[in-house]
Amino acid sequence: MTKKLRNVLTGAIEATPPVWFMRQAGRYLPEYRRLRTEAGSFMQLCLDPRKAADVTLQPVSRFGMDGAILFADILIVPHGLGTEVSFREGEGPSLPPLRPGDALPELDPEAFSARTAPIMETVRIVAAEMPAGTTLIGFAGAPWTVATYMVEGGSSRDFTQTKRWAYARPAEFQSLIDRITDATILYLRAQADAGAEALQLFDSWAGVLPADAFGRWSIEPAARIVSALRKTHPGIPLIGFPRGAGPSIVDYARRTGVDAVSLDTSIPLAWARGAMPDLCLQGNLDPQWLVVGGDGLDDQVARIGEAMAGAPFIFNLGHGIVPETPPDHVGRAVAAIRRLGV
Ligand code: CP3
Repeated sequence: MTKKLRNVLTGAIEATPPVWFMRQAGRYLPEYRRLRTEAGSFMQLCLDPRKAADVTLQPVSRFGMDGAILFADILIVPHGLGTEVSFREGEGPSLPPLRPGDALPELDPEAFSARTAPIMETVRIVAAEMPAGTTLIGFAGAPWTVATYMVEGGSSRDFTQTKRWAYARPAEFQSLIDRITDATILYLRAQADAGAEALQLFDSWAGVLPADAFGRWSIEPAARIVSALRKTHPGIPLIGFPRGAGPSIVDYARRTGVDAVSLDTSIPLAWARGAMPDLCLQGNLDPQWLVVGGDGLDDQVARIGEAMAGAPFIFNLGHGIVPETPPDHVGRAVAAIRRLGV
């Protein structure tokens, strides 16, 4: 059976685009909430391969997505580096804040592999159990985005501490970025070895960086990750998601060498197509349309489908599904996407 999503990532054009949604597994699904409660905590769910595999497969079974995104979190890399990561109910992640002058977490490859081994077991289970036409997507957070959580100690609105560190002590901040980059390369290689068929790099906070800093802290680490993976795993397609990068996304695509870029909701599709004519593009429906639903949702699907017709394209969102989303609206969107090009 052909893997439509994987084919599009390697340059094929499909009249009806393949589809998956960021955060397609999550709290909006009652079957997710059930397993999440059973697991006890979000981190325990991520580190329980049987449950994490079941959660990964839930949206694939319910909606027939072309892509299964590994269920884990971008903060598994700091966890692998020995950082204490927890998620408090309704508050998001919490880590001990790392500040200039602090000892950086060490990357001991054996300890890192042991601490991230449950994730690789999840990949193996999903690869063995998913439908034949599905593509298994592994992922990691990009070094800049992961660094913001490590430095701020969790989510942030203005990224004050991380930016001040990067601007005031760039050589020391570079060491932190390099450490995360090395860990991310190990982590993504292990996912590819375990059976991931494509890999996405989430740079969720790329958009807070001024253009010159974006080059150094977002593009350069991503370029290093891409070139390391090309050496050991030349066949695996890589998707970059520099959220909020605006027109700098063209530079990102060219200088990192990714096979595809994911577009956030702000990117005009006709512009992206013109600026990156041969690249596989992914995106960029506003997840709030999945909350609203109705004819408006169908119209948005049709608009995106028209803009991307005749080019390599993966239907996705501009950001993750939100917990308030009625599952039926996701089903409605997938049905509308399946009517494109027919
Ligand atoms: O379905 C999927 O997309 C796969 C799994 C996945 C999760 N997180 C599960 C998750 C993926 C790919 C991520 C990536 C991730 N995690 C990002 C990058 C994408 C983005 O959203 O910008 C970031 C920034 C994180 C860090 C993170 N994880 C935060 C800030 C939070 C708390 C906020 C929230 O939405 O709850 C999480 C928790 C998280 N990660 C949940 C899920 C399903 C919800 C936790 C729960 O069940 O209580």
